Amino acid sequence: MRFLAGAVSVITVGQGQDLTGFTATSVSSLSADHPSIIVSLNRASSSWPAIQRYQSFCVNVLADDQQHVADNFAGRGGLKGADRYEGASWQKLVTGSLGLVGALTVLDCELEEAIERHSHSILIGSVRAITTTAEAQPLLYWHGGYRQLSNETGPASR
Ligand SMILES: Cc1cc2nc3c(=O)[nH]c(=O)nc-3n(C[C@H](O)[C@H](O)[C@H](O)COP(=O)(O)O)c2cc1C
Repeated sequence: MRFLAGAVSVITVGQGQDLTGFTATSVSSLSADHPSIIVSLNRASSSWPAIQRYQSFCVNVLADDQQHVADNFAGRGGLKGADRYEGASWQKLVTGSLGLVGALTVLDCELEEAIERHSHSILIGSVRAITTTAEAQPLLYWHGGYRQLSNETGPASR
């Protein structure tokens, strides 16, 4: 899996002080019409019961200056629950989950379906609201380390 280069997201779940969430690289687009996204979540994570309870979550795609948020939501330093949200600004969109201010994009989702496979659940999120930070660059993860875009190979083809 370490050979799969990818964007880093933080998945937030919960309401009030009943908050948790996790750092994820297993996030991908399912469809644009209907807007929906797939997240793969280890069912041993504290986020799994919370997602079942709230039936919603936010996918916060991190900007390259938000690595500390990735560390918090990976539980680094033993951080749990609402403490993972410290040191960043949050706003509520539609479902009640918290979106990260300054993230590349925030996709506020209702849980459409959770498919249990092996150790994980494949979450299908139906996007209800979106915010974007146009000038931000992505935080990436590859081969066990965080990375940033350093160059471009040419103009985008579409
Ligand atoms: C870069 C990175 C990517 C990760 N990607 C995923 C992922 O896609 N799915 C997942 O379930 N856990 C992933 N994890 C692990 C979770 O972030 C971590 O296990 C979780 O925050 C801890 O769960 P807890 O809430 O039970 O303490 C990743 C961790 C890191 C550092």
